[in-house]
Amino acid sequence: MDGKGSVVTGIVSLFDEEAIAGRVEELAADMARAIPGDFLVVGLLKGSFVFAADLVRALDRQGASPRVEFMRLSSYGLGKESSGEVHLLGDIPTDIAGEAVVLVDDIVDTGRSIAYARALLERRDVGRLWTCALVDKPSRREVEIGLDFVGFTIGDVFIAGYGIDFAERYRHLPYIGVVE
Ligand code: IMP
Ligand code: MG
Repeated sequence: MDGKGSVVTGIVSLFDEEAIAGRVEELAADMARAIPGDFLVVGLLKGSFVFAADLVRALDRQGASPRVEFMRLSSYGLGKESSGEVHLLGDIPTDIAGEAVVLVDDIVDTGRSIAYARALLERRDVGRLWTCALVDKPSRREVEIGLDFVGFTIGDVFIAGYGIDFAERYRHLPYIGVVE
């Protein structure tokens, strides 16, 4: 508590810039190897904006030329717990039938968000679909979802930074830390 009676939150570094950059290069190498030809990266906003930006540039270094779209899903709001309901706030252009798509999110927690996005794309007859999460929290899973590419696997902690927020703060941090 500070003098004004509010709880002071702190961030304890978990993955520094170098660790993230190294892992993103490895993910891009795996992806470029696994996905032949042209593909579309669909990032889930807002959390994946920094990761997607780094990932597509790492894919370029691997010789891939992905197109990029973003889909915005409802957020956590101001707390650390999901409401359990996912809403679509912003869509991609709908004509994606037959396309090879990599769905990219910052964190997979209960699995609801990425499962929702995946079902939506499947209803539009995408071609092959891969899923990618920078951070996976498997112990929190409530909905089964196969992840094809995972950056880091962590336990049940709340993190922020590198695009990931806590109550809309800390997205600007270049590293990922645990919110205390
Ligand atoms: P899910 O739908 O429960 O899998 O939640 C996924 C979304 O919740 C992620 O894309 C994040 O936006 C958010 N989220 C889950 N865990 C955390 C966390 O530790 N910090 C910040 N946001 C989180
Ligand atoms: Mg998110």
